[in-house]
Amino acid sequence: MSELSNKPSRTQPIVFKDPVHDYIHVDDRLILQLIDSKEFQRLRRIKQLGTSQYTFHGAEHSRFSHSLGVYELTRLITDRFARYYAHQWDSQEQFVALCAALLHDIGHGPFSHTFEKIFKTDHEAITQQIILNPATQVHHILQHAGEDFPAQVASVIAKTYPNPQVVQLISSQMDADRMDYLLRDAYFTGVSYGNFDLSRILRVIRPYTQGIAFSYAGMHAVEDYVVSRYQMYMQVYFHPVSRGMEVTLDRLLTRAKDLYLAGQLDILPPFLEPFFDNHYTLHDYLALDDAVLITAIGLFCQSKDTILSTLAQMFYNRKPLKSVEFDGKNQTEIVEKLRHLVEKAGYPLQYFTQINRSSDLSYDYSLKGQSPIILMNPDDSLVELSTASPIVKILSDHLHGNQRLYVPAEFLSTSADIPFDVQVLRQQFLKHIHNGHII
Ligand code: NI
Repeated sequence: MSELSNKPSRTQPIVFKDPVHDYIHVDDRLILQLIDSKEFQRLRRIKQLGTSQYTFHGAEHSRFSHSLGVYELTRLITDRFARYYAHQWDSQEQFVALCAALLHDIGHGPFSHTFEKIFKTDHEAITQQIILNPATQVHHILQHAGEDFPAQVASVIAKTYPNPQVVQLISSQMDADRMDYLLRDAYFTGVSYGNFDLSRILRVIRPYTQGIAFSYAGMHAVEDYVVSRYQMYMQVYFHPVSRGMEVTLDRLLTRAKDLYLAGQLDILPPFLEPFFDNHYTLHDYLALDDAVLITAIGLFCQSKDTILSTLAQMFYNRKPLKSVEFDGKNQTEIVEKLRHLVEKAGYPLQYFTQINRSSDLSYDYSLKGQSPIILMNPDDSLVELSTASPIVKILSDHLHGNQRLYVPAEFLSTSADIPFDVQVLRQQFLKHIHNGHII
């Protein structure tokens, strides 16, 4: 255990005003130092929801505020464990849980989802590197709690920490991370779907030998959380326009990378070369944030390469590729026909069309996958959530999501402001589409 949990280094309580949890309470000097570290401050410059901000303009919140929120929920839960379940919870575990909660997303980069795909980075691996690398401020601060304390915090993130209660608090189907992002994303997007009864959940959550459970009496609050999660995925995270911005970003970064590798990229924006090169250090990675990427896209708008400058302007001015939904089974042939029409209009296919699939299992009750949500009866016997809740049972039976074909907007627009030959192709294109679905 950390020295610090034995000898807490208290400071005057500090509070951060937060729109979701009202106040975030910090009364430990090391936690405050972690928040002040340059690696943690960098999270202020990375938006939590990436391209969702182009659909829900309120969604400008950062990974900094989410990370503080996960810390605060972990603090509330572990304080409660110490108070009511001292026989089942070792309060010396609180500090490692708080550090892991605060740092769980510290390896995220700008527009992570797309960036990772193109440049083969991995935010979870980088989170652990930031914690373990002696050159970071985060590592240095954690070491004050014990020589092996950084390794303990990293192992919570890696899910290899020996105490399953601590691991499940940070990473399970009902963890502090998900609880915070559902509430926070709902608040900032302005939708009502993500809300659930957090106060009730905090009253029924409890530790047991194999991890975290919920008193049976709180079943409907837990059920409501699973339904909220399902609705947030369907309405916010999988929104077709946000995905269109993601696809456009994906295609423009791919074009820039292809040009770089061919020695033909005429504009080299700051900080990105090590990633085009696939030769980056942790120091290079920590220089990235949303501003770096947006600036790069602004510069690419000026490129002499028409494909790159067109895609960059589409992203910069929020004119993303547009999409139609199709069912995956017997549509290969028709999707190929549609792509062919786009190509005939003069678009290089690989940069101006893409199939995007989104799917989510709202709740996984299998014991093989993520740990299932467990309810505890008054006699201490255990019940898996989907066997108690018919609503959760229905949601957990299959993947929810869809597949969409993304193409240049003019193929789906009604504007007459389009060259005649493209209009003819568009007519042929639209013939295969009915009510936004490919038929
Ligand atoms: Ni998170």
